[in-house]
Amino acid sequence: MTATLKEISALYEKYVMETYARADILFVRGEGTRLYDAEGREYLDFAAGIAVCSLGHCHPSVTKAIQEQAGKLVHTSNLYLNEWQPRLAQKLVEHGFDGVCFFANSGAEANEGLIKLARKAGNEKGRYEIIAMNDSFHGRTLATLAATGRAKYRKGFQPDMPGFKFVDYNDIDAVRNAVDDKTAAVLVEPVQGEGGVIPACPEYLKALRALCDEKGILLLFDEVQCGVGRTGTFFAWQNSGVAPDALSMAKALGNGFPIGAMLASRKYAGVLTPGTHASTFGGTPLACAASCAVIDSIDREKILENVKIRSAFLMEKLRALASRYSCIKGVRGTGLLIGVVLDFPAGELLSILRSKGMIALSAGETVLRLVPPLTVSQADCEKAVALIDEAFAQLTDKS
Ligand SMILES: Cc1ncc(COP(=O)(O)O)c(C=O)c1O
Repeated sequence: MTATLKEISALYEKYVMETYARADILFVRGEGTRLYDAEGREYLDFAAGIAVCSLGHCHPSVTKAIQEQAGKLVHTSNLYLNEWQPRLAQKLVEHGFDGVCFFANSGAEANEGLIKLARKAGNEKGRYEIIAMNDSFHGRTLATLAATGRAKYRKGFQPDMPGFKFVDYNDIDAVRNAVDDKTAAVLVEPVQGEGGVIPACPEYLKALRALCDEKGILLLFDEVQCGVGRTGTFFAWQNSGVAPDALSMAKALGNGFPIGAMLASRKYAGVLTPGTHASTFGGTPLACAASCAVIDSIDREKILENVKIRSAFLMEKLRALASRYSCIKGVRGTGLLIGVVLDFPAGELLSILRSKGMIALSAGETVLRLVPPLTVSQADCEKAVALIDEAFAQLTDKS
């Protein structure tokens, strides 16, 4: 018997720490681009568990891989070999980044790996500082918080971990001025997700690459949100052709099964040696089998082509809406990481959309963020645009 919303809300209130502002919806089932709540109501999901369920909910190949591996071997520790970890690493590398992988469980943990890699690589030269971007988001652990360029997330947790400097995103002169003999790396999201869906300019990334090469420091990309096909290329950096020295991935890598990864180029492959970095649960047979199924499905189902086609359609239709509603200040993004810039906080729009049976997200305070499963169909996109149109009409009528 399915529990009721009221029963579950009461349990949350009593037993779960209140660190999230949760909407009062109890999802009990998902299939593809659809979610179903305890009352049997259907929702069109343009949030995908915050850019996680990129193949849609309960993708059959991923479900099968999880079920089979769960019945065979779940965990052995990293003191032994497991058959899925190197297979997954090989698949990642063969998607265009020649290097080696370290497996973790989340985006923040993958980014901790990047930070430790850069510090270790710079250690003998006294280089430890990382230049990060204003409005960036890298996670909630103390090091990744210290690398996050929004003060509101760090408030109350001071002192910040030392060794991070912030400059404006897409401003190469600011980075050039900030680099000194303590700098170990520059950390950047190829598309800032949480900060408001802001893509990096290709010229900026090219100039960053040249600057890092000139100074002998690492260029690190956080692809936790924008990687694994979200932007229409497997790695987000492939849109610009500018490869980092190391990158992090998580979110879509397991389609909901927790897994994160750091990928370092051959040049930095030997920096972290036995005993210098570890994770008990990193790269279990179960997580890696699930992730292998994700990547095989992306290839087999030609997901990247779908991303490009659906992205072009959504961008065009959303821009048409922008020409009709003056409260829309612009539409931006790459692939199926799309931001509709508003002149008001996105919260009310999200709740109207929910009442109409559509789930979406905000980014920053005033950006409507759309990150549907990458499998999204033309009909789903048409429905989403129609619902967004209705929601804007309702909001504008009221004001
Ligand atoms: C770009 C980026 N990096 C890191 C993280 C942190 O990932 P996690 O919540 O899995 O630790 C996020 C989460 O939203 C993110 O968007």
